[in-house]
Amino acid sequence: MAKIGILTGGGDCPGLNAVIRGVVKSAVGRGWEVVGIEDGFDGFLHPEKCRPLGLEEVRGILPRGGTILGTSNRGNPFAFPIMREGKVELVDVSDEVRSRILQLGLTALIVVGGDGSLKIAQEMMRRGVPIVGVPKTIDNDLLETDVTFGYNTALETATDALDKLHSTAESHHRVMVLEVMGRYAGWIALESGIAGGADVILIPEIPYDIDRIRDAIIARCKRGRRFSVVVVAEGAYPKGGNRVLKEAAGGKSVVERLGGVGEALSRELGGVLEMDIRVTVLGHLQRGGTPSTFDRCIGSRFGVKAVELVEAGAFGQMVCLKGRHITSVPIEDAVRSLNLIDPSGEMVRHAEALGIMLGR
Ligand code: F6P
Repeated sequence: MAKIGILTGGGDCPGLNAVIRGVVKSAVGRGWEVVGIEDGFDGFLHPEKCRPLGLEEVRGILPRGGTILGTSNRGNPFAFPIMREGKVELVDVSDEVRSRILQLGLTALIVVGGDGSLKIAQEMMRRGVPIVGVPKTIDNDLLETDVTFGYNTALETATDALDKLHSTAESHHRVMVLEVMGRYAGWIALESGIAGGADVILIPEIPYDIDRIRDAIIARCKRGRRFSVVVVAEGAYPKGGNRVLKEAAGGKSVVERLGGVGEALSRELGGVLEMDIRVTVLGHLQRGGTPSTFDRCIGSRFGVKAVELVEAGAFGQMVCLKGRHITSVPIEDAVRSLNLIDPSGEMVRHAEALGIMLGR
């Protein structure tokens, strides 16, 4: 009888509970045991955070946002933050994590995470831990899968926000700026912008030119469209400029925290436009709430597939979606670099053909 562990790492994301439920149901169906590790890899360092997961524990969780296991984006076992003499120090606790996995008698560990957690998973694999990965992130920035789960729900939230902002834009003849998440990838901005009828979409993959944005907004006014809706990805930045950071890496946060480009853009535009400008930062609303039908379905199927991979001994693989099929790829291929938008690719061309201004 196999005994598998499952953990959720990195930022929370709609559909995590669907994956956990999918794993538990299909593992229990095989007569296997499942151990849930709380708060990502961090959970291995605390015996009370490793608990049995059965059908009872996953009942009713399918429509719930977040993760019943908790998560953390600060629990990298290879650079684990501890306080020493009042200062944060990063230490390697991977040996401790590995021994704990052995102690628990896990046949395999399923890691549900984004780029960061899957890189950790790959490193743990190299140290002999049998791992299967599941691609999670609202940013959709993982390679080798058509889509990550969570992205679809975030898109729905962003599109809904754009629909709502249109009313005020039109009624008040304003420029309404919506800042969305996505880190270094512009997927949420681009697809919600297309779906939500944005007039300007700014993405990290195409550094923007403020004069051209101004010209596009003025040209709309001349055509009688006295308002504009702008969606800007948090990682977007002006030509020759830098990304706007909330916090640099290395402080409280292990990775840099993006945010603030909406306000920066509004200040820049305010200097060259007469119109009123208002900014909305969508923030963590994109990560919360009940997962969309698509994410519930894909999350559940990813969970089932992860168990199938464990059964087949296909360790080091990440489940993925290719077309309409759930299949798998080596984790290392998925985290080799980020899945970014091709500035001369089809989706950008289609957006431009719709008359959307992409900042260039
Ligand atoms: O990776 C998901 C994400 O929501 C990014 O889009 C965003 O930059 C980041 O996480 C925010 O992280 P935190 O919740 O730590 O502020």
